[in-house]
Amino acid sequence: MTTMESLIGLVNRIQRACTVLGDYGGGGTGDNAFNSLWEALPTVAVVGGQSSGKSSVLESIVGRDFLPRGSGIVTRRPLVLQLHKMEEGTEEYAEFLHLPKRQFTDFALVRKEIQDETDRITGKSKQISPVPIHLSIFSPNVVNLTLVDLPGLTKVAVEGQPETIVEDIESMVRTYVDKPNCIILAISPANQDIATSDAIKLAKEVDPAGERTFGVLTKLDLMDKGTNALDVLEGRSYRLQHPWVGIVNRSQADINRNADMMLARRKERDYFDTSPDYGHLASKMGSEYLAKLLSKHLESVIRSRIPSILSLINKSIEELERELDKMGRPVAVDAGAQLYTILEMCRAFDKVFKEHLD
Ligand code: GDP
Ligand code: NA
Ligand code: MG
Repeated sequence: MTTMESLIGLVNRIQRACTVLGDYGGGGTGDNAFNSLWEALPTVAVVGGQSSGKSSVLESIVGRDFLPRGSGIVTRRPLVLQLHKMEEGTEEYAEFLHLPKRQFTDFALVRKEIQDETDRITGKSKQISPVPIHLSIFSPNVVNLTLVDLPGLTKVAVEGQPETIVEDIESMVRTYVDKPNCIILAISPANQDIATSDAIKLAKEVDPAGERTFGVLTKLDLMDKGTNALDVLEGRSYRLQHPWVGIVNRSQADINRNADMMLARRKERDYFDTSPDYGHLASKMGSEYLAKLLSKHLESVIRSRIPSILSLINKSIEELERELDKMGRPVAVDAGAQLYTILEMCRAFDKVFKEHLD
């Protein structure tokens, strides 16, 4: 791993530890070093209208089938997904913050746990809740990233939903995208007019210069014959600082017949390689390219924030040492052990960074 990769990996792990120790697990924003540190670290929020393909894009980035997907409001609580890149040869597994002792290797069970955990808080109704579910995936096949899957923006409440659901979803999404450290993955489906995109409407408002928005166009395969999305993909319809990325996810029919994720990636690649419309853009399209683009961007963001991250980390180290002194060392209790772990990671970040400078 490169120094930058290990720094990002450390940031990722520190962020995870902050989640355990701060009150992010409950969706709160208490004023402590862990929350400040969490907020200083960049996250990627996936936003867009209902069924625009948000969960599908996330799955493609991970290269794994593990999210509840489908028509209507399926994602009803934020899912904070941390990807941790592991050494080659490590077996891939997932772990929920609310089930710290259980390692999932069967991703169908991960999906079921997300569904069950969603229902646990919201009931089986179509209600939503701002309390996030935290999931970490450890794998040699991912890039170090923290991504948040969010309920889709919508225009009307459907049968059985409270009238306020439209505003409730929007304000939930805003708590993420309002933060200047949030990278916005704005998902719009290609089979709808970009001028009506909920994602672009929101991104335009919170990031008018388009500096932290990545435009993603899904469902290219579902456009009417004889039309194409070049105006959007080449930035003529709506200009952003970062290039637009076109995506072809699995269709509902693919999902129903359990089409393999790796096969889907290959099909997506073929789609662009052989497309008469997008052939010239092929190397900058698709979910694998998007994952690399995001990871590279994250790297440059972290690089530019290293001084402020370091000062927060040093503050955390002080706070942690005070806490540990209060508890008396050595500590056997869980909280103490976690404090100690995060302290060690902060020190490691400090050290790796200093070596990097030399
Ligand atoms: P979300 O509500 O925004 O999270 O959207 P989902 O990822 O759950 O997708 C909604 C539906 O659209 C599912 O049935 C997906 O299979 C389908 N879908 C998403 N992206 C594409 C795509 O690029 N092409 C096709 N054909 N279907 C897609
Ligand atoms: Na959906
Ligand atoms: Mg979804």
